[in-house]
Amino acid sequence: MLIRPAVESDIPYLYEICLKTGDSGKDASPLFYDPHLLGHYYAAPYLFFDSSLCFIAEADYTPQGYILAAGDSAAFYRWLEDTWLPPLRRRYPDPFPPGRVKSVYEQRLIRLLHQPAGLPEAAPPWLPRYPAHLHIDLLPEIQGKGWGKVLMDTLFAELERREIPGVHLGVGAGNTAAPGFYKKIGFSILQNEVWGVTMGKELTHGF
Ligand SMILES: CC(C)(COP(=O)(O)OP(=O)(O)OC[C@H]1O[C@@H](n2cnc3c(N)ncnc32)[C@H](O)[C@@H]1OP(=O)(O)O)[C@@H](O)C(=O)NCCC(=O)NCCS
Repeated sequence: MLIRPAVESDIPYLYEICLKTGDSGKDASPLFYDPHLLGHYYAAPYLFFDSSLCFIAEADYTPQGYILAAGDSAAFYRWLEDTWLPPLRRRYPDPFPPGRVKSVYEQRLIRLLHQPAGLPEAAPPWLPRYPAHLHIDLLPEIQGKGWGKVLMDTLFAELERREIPGVHLGVGAGNTAAPGFYKKIGFSILQNEVWGVTMGKELTHGF
């Protein structure tokens, strides 16, 4: 397995991995007419915002997993609103024609493009301690072999090098496996959400 920084030509693989793990860690393909919708929101923007916080796990000359992060979540969501989302909103009007939507989940994703989950207007009190956020997804073939932890450690090293004090992430209520992994890596619950839970981990900077 090769762990390496992500590059622009990884984009198709990011979309594919995002879709194949997008239903609470399972394959979301049956739920989407448009196989790119999930990646439009949860994967591709990170590479365009700051590719130096995106890493790939590659095996057999093929990307099989990723970790994608934004170091300053507030700045990321501002960029998402100003730059990334406007063209997507034109392409995916809300409401979308019902015949072009395969599931409630797909409809919810289109709504998310118009009303992003992001951070609430009043920033949560824990944000200064956990300003970065991340997404991590591995294809089933490479899950449970330690590569998730290696990707996390790779990202943490880069965040620590930049003296970013902590990182947070969201886990949907339907994902029963991921919270155990995150706890093992050192994350704890910051906030319960209607859709699941926000978890965070402080970083050390080597002292
Ligand atoms: C969740 C995910 C990133 C974890 O990566 P992974 O490579 O499977 O996990 P690792 O093998 O690196 O596990 C690292 C450690 O966490 C432990 N762990 C992994 N999953 C666990 C779980 N569900 N409960 C408790 N511990 C767990 C492992 O036992 C291992 O412990 P060890 O170091 O003592 O051996 C990966 O399985 C995945 O991509 N799943 C599908 C997509 C997904 O759900 N993404 C998260 C969306 S919020």
